[in-house]
Amino acid sequence: MTARTPLIAGNWKMYKTEAEAEEYIQALLPRVSTVQGTEVAICVPFTDVKAMADSARGSPVLVYAQTMHERPEGPFTGEVSAPMLAEAGAQGVLLGHSERRQLFGESDDALALKVPAALRSGLTPVLCVGETERERDGGETEGKLRRQMGDDLAGVGEERLAEIVIAYEPIWAIGTGRVATPEQAQETIAFIRSLLRERDEGAAERVRILYGGSVKPDNAAELLALADVDGALVGGASLQADSFAQIVGATAR
Ligand code: PGA
Repeated sequence: MTARTPLIAGNWKMYKTEAEAEEYIQALLPRVSTVQGTEVAICVPFTDVKAMADSARGSPVLVYAQTMHERPEGPFTGEVSAPMLAEAGAQGVLLGHSERRQLFGESDDALALKVPAALRSGLTPVLCVGETERERDGGETEGKLRRQMGDDLAGVGEERLAEIVIAYEPIWAIGTGRVATPEQAQETIAFIRSLLRERDEGAAERVRILYGGSVKPDNAAELLALADVDGALVGGASLQADSFAQIVGATAR
């Protein structure tokens, strides 16, 4: 089996000014300085990217953005492109987070362009996929995931597939305190890997698949111990350096 480096990614959402971000990184760095064999990333608001990248340089902490536009430049008021993020110091970007899809109309068509655009600029794309509670109850989880994975990765060639990170986030578990059971997480993530195998057997083993949705210090170890779970995407519990560092510490396998 291919060894995949676990990734713990924090998603700050629309929290933290630059000053607050700076205070956080100074608190986090000493807590994660000895971390080995795990990647740590924080997905920050655009205005924090540059300062955070400067402060985290040389440390184990990577700085990611939370979204981007699919074009490198153009008349798209309010948008930010992959080359802009890369030059500001971002090393990756969340794409297709359910809040972007539901509240800001991020479409599968746009994502099919965004994922390869991120790769072209050297950014690690973290593609978020997941079902609503209604879809799960209606037995539509696998159909939804098959469609999202097919549509959103349509523009990625097999040769770059292994560079993508997938975050499986059941929408009913985001910000709700309800977390998928280990069986649900394990089974669904194994299904996502089977979809990747249909694309390319070899690359599928190298793609990291994270679990997201109400990951907290007290449930992280159990989720991260699951064979198919290669890390976590952490929202609320990433806002305090202490709880985020505890989740990073729970990755020891
Ligand atoms: P949560 O958010 O950990 O607060 O549930 C996860 C996410 O939205 O990525």
